[in-house]
Amino acid sequence: MSKYAAVPILLLFAFLVAAATDEINGEAIYKARCKVCHGEDGVPKSFAKGSAAFNDEAWKEATDLEAIEKVVAEGRKRMPAFQSKLTPEEIKAVSVYLKTL
Ligand code: HEC
Repeated sequence: MSKYAAVPILLLFAFLVAAATDEINGEAIYKARCKVCHGEDGVPKSFAKGSAAFNDEAWKEATDLEAIEKVVAEGRKRMPAFQSKLTPEEIKAVSVYLKTL
């Protein structure tokens, strides 16, 4: 057997480790899926009429993470539900990011 036979196995192993430790990026999810309606800074565009501004300190203080996760998962009026498009971990990550705006 060639001494290089182990190389592809090592590469596969490195790939699996990298994939398993890949962090969920709430900011990237927000920019890809929420920004179009809620705006980069969290100030709603006309598509998100009826939504609070996510950079409003009073709203952030009054709204806990669980309530945000519930709206994102289940939707509300014209707000689309994301539970079939995002994992619970991704919904949590984007909700945590939303509170940093
Ligand atoms: C198609 C446009 C659209 C997209 C895309 C969208 N939203 Fe919304 N969102 C809305 C609308 C409209 C409302 C207001 C719903 C209502 O009238 O009750 C809303 C409301 C919300 C609320 C509740 C705010 C409040 O006032 O309590 C949260 C939280 C929220 N959206 C988060 C998100 C997140 C996170 C994403 C991305 C994963 C997202 N939205 C994507 C349209 C959108």
